[in-house]
Amino acid sequence: MKLSLFAVAWLIATDPALAQDAFALRERSLAATCAQCHGTDGHAPPGSAMTSLAGMPAPYLVEQMLAFKTGVRPGTVMPQLAKGYSDAQIGQLAGYFARVTATTATVAKP
Ligand code: HEC
Repeated sequence: MKLSLFAVAWLIATDPALAQDAFALRERSLAATCAQCHGTDGHAPPGSAMTSLAGMPAPYLVEQMLAFKTGVRPGTVMPQLAKGYSDAQIGQLAGYFARVTATTATVAKP
């Protein structure tokens, strides 16, 4: 059976649980674009010079991303990278990383 895109969209729009799942998945996918450098779910590897984004207060993350985006804050990578995200996406990223704590780490504990 072919489920049309419209049917899927309707299902998501009418089922609050599904809509929430879709939102969470989208948010997590967005955050995964930072994992290459800042670690999975923002947990930088121990001993790494990279800043951990996990648990970072949302207002601070938003402020830094906007500063990189507008050129107010210089950097090597982040100024170019921040330009690729809308302000709304930066808000979502900030919300996601602020909620990630040590207890929600997906990194395997030895
Ligand atoms: C290619 C590697 C790379 C990726 C991918 C990356 N970052 Fe960064 N990030 C850096 C580096 C390097 C710095 C230090 C500033 C600079 O040199 O640009 C930094 C700094 C930051 C800072 C400032 C931290 C502080 O202590 O003030 C924030 C916030 C940040 N990144 C957020 C993000 C977010 C959110 C994403 C995903 C959308 C992301 N970064 C993706 C490399 C990366």
